[in-house]
Amino acid sequence: MAMLEILKLPDPRLKEVAQDVTQFDEGLQQFIADLEETRQAGPAAVGIAAPQVGRSQRIVIIDCSTTRKPVPNHGHLILVNPEIIEWDGFELGREGCLSVPDYTGNVIRAERIKLRTQDPQGEHHEYEMEGYEARALQHEVDHLDGILFIDRLVSRRTDLFQRKVYQKGGKKKK
Ligand code: NI
Repeated sequence: MAMLEILKLPDPRLKEVAQDVTQFDEGLQQFIADLEETRQAGPAAVGIAAPQVGRSQRIVIIDCSTTRKPVPNHGHLILVNPEIIEWDGFELGREGCLSVPDYTGNVIRAERIKLRTQDPQGEHHEYEMEGYEARALQHEVDHLDGILFIDRLVSRRTDLFQRKVYQKGGKKKK
């Protein structure tokens, strides 16, 4: 396995629309293992998307099972070609991103979503997600379309916050 470099703003590759995965082969499994290793080595990332390491393919990993406050979640998910097919409600919440390490921001997202996806073997699945997990998923799927959370702020003046320390474990430094 290998640690991959995480691209950061303003790398133009973060703005690309990623391609569908069509080959569910050994190369895909190896890349997913590397992506997972990179996610776990990073500072408390609940999610990571392939374009963040320079691979323009529709692959996302999320895991909302380890948040400090327990939230409804499906545990560790490797999502290939994920597609949001239903949205319901909306709420404002704070987000951060490995590719935007110096800031957090308030973003409006759907409260509940329905997701259609494949797994690393190409099998099809559907999930219903709510709250924090739904937010994380929407954030990661945005990466597949070249969109960062800072592109979704209502106002940079009131909704963008400088981050002091991006600390492992997600604890805020006082
Ligand atoms: Ni992100």
